[in-house]
Amino acid sequence: MKTDAKIQELVNSYGNWFTNPDHENSAGGAGRMTKDLYPYTAMFSPIQINRTKIKNRLVMAPMGNIDMCEETGRPNDKMLQYFFARAKGGVGLITTGLVPISFGIDNSVIEPGKLSYFPRIDRSRTVFAGWRDLAQGVHNFGAKIFIQLTPGLGRVGNPQCLVNQYKFPVSASFNPNFYMPQIPCMRLSDRKLNRIIRNAGQAAADAMAAGIDGVYLHGHEGYLLEQMTNPAFNRRKLGRFADWQRFGIDMVKEMRRRVGPHYPIMYRIDLSLALNETYGEEGMSKPPLKKFRNGRTIDETLEYMENLVKAGVDIFDVDLGCYDNWWLPHPPSGMPAGCFLEVSRIVKERFRERGVKSNAGFDVPIVAVGKLGYPDLAEKAIRDGYCDMVMLGRPLLADPEWPAKAYSGRVEEITPCIGCQEGCINEFVEGGHPQCAVNPRTGFEHIYPENPPKADRVKKIAVVGAGPAGVVLSITAARRGHKVELFEKSGQIGGKTIPGSVPKIKFDVANYRKHLEHMLAKAEKEYDLKVHLNSAVDLEKLSEGAYDSIVFATGAKETLPPIPGLDKVKHVQATDLLMNPGLLGDAKSVVIVGGGEVGCETAYWL
Ligand SMILES: Cc1cc2nc3c(=O)[nH]c(=O)nc-3n(C[C@H](O)[C@H](O)[C@H](O)COP(=O)(O)O)c2cc1C
Ligand code: SF4
Repeated sequence: MKTDAKIQELVNSYGNWFTNPDHENSAGGAGRMTKDLYPYTAMFSPIQINRTKIKNRLVMAPMGNIDMCEETGRPNDKMLQYFFARAKGGVGLITTGLVPISFGIDNSVIEPGKLSYFPRIDRSRTVFAGWRDLAQGVHNFGAKIFIQLTPGLGRVGNPQCLVNQYKFPVSASFNPNFYMPQIPCMRLSDRKLNRIIRNAGQAAADAMAAGIDGVYLHGHEGYLLEQMTNPAFNRRKLGRFADWQRFGIDMVKEMRRRVGPHYPIMYRIDLSLALNETYGEEGMSKPPLKKFRNGRTIDETLEYMENLVKAGVDIFDVDLGCYDNWWLPHPPSGMPAGCFLEVSRIVKERFRERGVKSNAGFDVPIVAVGKLGYPDLAEKAIRDGYCDMVMLGRPLLADPEWPAKAYSGRVEEITPCIGCQEGCINEFVEGGHPQCAVNPRTGFEHIYPENPPKADRVKKIAVVGAGPAGVVLSITAARRGHKVELFEKSGQIGGKTIPGSVPKIKFDVANYRKHLEHMLAKAEKEYDLKVHLNSAVDLEKLSEGAYDSIVFATGAKETLPPIPGLDKVKHVQATDLLMNPGLLGDAKSVVIVGGGEVGCETAYWL
């Protein structure tokens, strides 16, 4: 089994970075919302991709716009306003989420009744009009937009096509479906694969005609394009595509043929699936993974990337991993900040050594992605040559104005992503559009106004509990012109985010709590808002206040499992213990009941 020492080192570090006291995150560095490097001259300098100039180095990551379109696949107002908000927020380059071009071939991308929950561009004027509106609106704010085209999902598509269309999912070879490995994916014929390639050329030409600024191929994370272009999944022995580089190269050439020499083509790739390094010999010897042992090495990926440049690619972004090790391409809160910077550095160095230039004669920019929503870190990554551009996914769901706030040095005002995956990834898995746990407007920009409207009638409002809900409600109500008093029993704001940010790996939650503190203090100065800490309330106190409305934001209450005899044993809630380690007393051995996130974190912390 092939392994890359560098990938192994990275994979290991993701699991134990927090044990190293010198790691930047634990020293208050990389994963913090600081502004030591302000002004951000590198992040806000322009860059050229082929002949297209981008105003700054910030790229919005592709995040599936499923259910942000009409049933025909035409982008709807939800999608338009969602992107306009990000363009207005200052990002230089927007990329859309995946847009399939293999309807009728990859059975997992279509819904019963030939409806689509994916946006489509492979149709007619009905859908083109939506893309035109999108491109024009984004341009109004000085941003550019690339459309992410995907040849399909293949083995990582929903296998429901078997039930509702009586058709099997498809892949490069006879691969097991990701969700239900007992369902095999049928090997696509060369004829069908050539049809997808022609579709890619047509979609690129249509995107260009619709005013979209570039096309972006979805070649990472084990989707169909990668299934064809990684020997882990492509085990074909016969035909043109038995050469695992061929499908990607043919596709890029066809797109280039259709759009001419100067239209930007971007390609998303993972440096490695990192499967062998994640699961080791033992894990990889069991089904379904044992079929996927022959993944591309770093050298093979780099060689493929150089060939893609020769075929017509102008720019890459690079990450790591696939569906079978999901936490890599979608790094959750426990992953270190900037987790793939080393990956983009490897590519940049190789391209520099080899003097790789695009066919248009330019350097090939390398975009870094993965937990880069910390302005100092993003700036440093570009300044230190780890990448040419920085891609932000979830940080722009949490705060579309991230770029504008970083540009003007208002870093404390950036609402940080807390890495919870609740509103974004979990919605995606359920078939919903992007949302965000810390930004209720995300995905609802077409309904909720950017600034809360002034109240018709000013009310006197008491808010009880200064956790995230109480704080955000107080600020919003005060911005609307209400008179607000916020009561908090303890001496701090943040509620359960206080114990929740004690473990070192919860630096994202700690950032969020700090942000809430900052925004509340700011709102206290700007609006009719008073915060009362160390102030428990009772009915009498609330009655005396003669409030028009009282809002209880006292949060959830921990439960104790109904274990007979528990009252005779010394026990403590994890959240209390995190706040007050002294509660442990002289206990020598501790049992933790409940192996969820809090239980595991507390066990490790102890
Ligand atoms: C809700 C959601 C949907 C995503 N959809 C796509 C997608 O359509 N295409 C894609 O290439 N990556 C997709 N990704 C991955 C992101 O582009 C990005 O690589 C990942 O979120 C890591 O970047 P971040 O830490 O800045 O969020 C998605 C991520 C999220 C959170
Ligand atoms: S839902 Fe959670 S992980 Fe997703 S963008 Fe919002 S804060 Fe980040």
